[in-house]
Amino acid sequence: MRVLVVGGGGREHALVHSFSRSSLRPQVFCAPGNAGIAAEADCVPVGAEDLEGLLDFATRERPDLTVVGPEAPLVDGLADRFRERGLLVFGPDAHAAQMEGSKVFAKEVMDEGGAPTGAYSRHTSAESAFAALAAQSAYPVVVKADGLAAGKGVIIAADEAEARDAVESMLVARSFGAAGDVVLIEEHLTGSEVSLLVLCDGETAVPLAPAQDYKRIFAGDRGPNTGGMGSYCPVPGFGPQAVDAAMDTVVQPVLDALRRRGITYRGVLYAGLIVTADGLKVLEFNCRFGDPETQAVLPRLESDLLELCLAAASGELAGAAPSWVAEDCVTVVMASAGYPASSHKGDVIEGLEAAAALPGVTVYHAGTAVAGDSGGTRPPAVATAGGRVLAVSALGGGFAAARERAYEGIRAIRFDGAQTRPDIAERAVRAQTGEISLFPEGWRP
Ligand code: GLY
Repeated sequence: MRVLVVGGGGREHALVHSFSRSSLRPQVFCAPGNAGIAAEADCVPVGAEDLEGLLDFATRERPDLTVVGPEAPLVDGLADRFRERGLLVFGPDAHAAQMEGSKVFAKEVMDEGGAPTGAYSRHTSAESAFAALAAQSAYPVVVKADGLAAGKGVIIAADEAEARDAVESMLVARSFGAAGDVVLIEEHLTGSEVSLLVLCDGETAVPLAPAQDYKRIFAGDRGPNTGGMGSYCPVPGFGPQAVDAAMDTVVQPVLDALRRRGITYRGVLYAGLIVTADGLKVLEFNCRFGDPETQAVLPRLESDLLELCLAAASGELAGAAPSWVAEDCVTVVMASAGYPASSHKGDVIEGLEAAAALPGVTVYHAGTAVAGDSGGTRPPAVATAGGRVLAVSALGGGFAAARERAYEGIRAIRFDGAQTRPDIAERAVRAQTGEISLFPEGWRP
């Protein structure tokens, strides 16, 4: 059994880590991988967005399964190209990946399926967007670029002036290129967010355990948005009944609406949900595993992830029921100096082995690279090579224990300019003890 994982971040390290422990004993390749992945898989020097290079490699090596981490190659048709060559892929084709690749497409599918989501209008000219903003009865509003914008295309505008600036930057200055040719102005929803990653085989949809992530750089959800500074799994107060409700009111209606359009969804459908005072709604869909949610979800998965991905890719998920360890998982991200505005490369990372040796702790690499040979007596030095550098995940009996272990792991690791949020999963601890509720009072799924 040979498996190819496409990507080189923390999410892909978590996938590789799980696959390399599969009872199917696969040989795992990762393109391009990173310094941590290299210890568990054969890294292939081909970028995740180099479709031709990936096709060449897969045609030569014939992996039994390819699992695609990031969204861009899926939106660009990687799964279609692989399937045309008879290669088994876990990931949606380009049409289905429009659930992430086009916000307007996702909204239309949600409307067709009756999935609850924020009200919106779509605009292709600044004049039309400005008129909608002038008629807006309340602020903030959300201004979104329709296409992929590397996580930067969603702006929460506090007032009309900020919203006009966002529209101008997308439709006039074209700062996101073609991704900003269509702009959505959307109702700003408030509440508690939940990420639900759902395995889909074209017919059957199987949810993984729910997670929450932290998007802002600073404690207390302050500062600019990032790719994600931490996460935890499961979510206190969002139990099996809530997951069933999300499947019934959101995921299945959307998959059915896609099917009516002739689109079969195979891979992970990531439902970004929010529980508002008016109930459960959809913020967004992604066409891939979440990052860093995956790093908090997979340590709790008792079932064989590779078997599940193979079943999903082959249309054989019916009857699958993933099992989970009873422990909770907390993931804390370490980012490099300057992130998220920039990132810093080449800062040597110390303490990785000490952190990984702590009970219940797994250190997933993201933006890391081998910095040089230490002479063969010790593992080669590893240095920062991107914005998000590491994700330290820890399992524990209860969130307080998991959190303590994750931060113990963080304290064992050092590099210049390292940034972490000190408050990851604090609210999960308080919700677990009953001190707070993460969801609106009286909300019942
Ligand atoms: N954690 C957010 C995402 O993966 O898009």
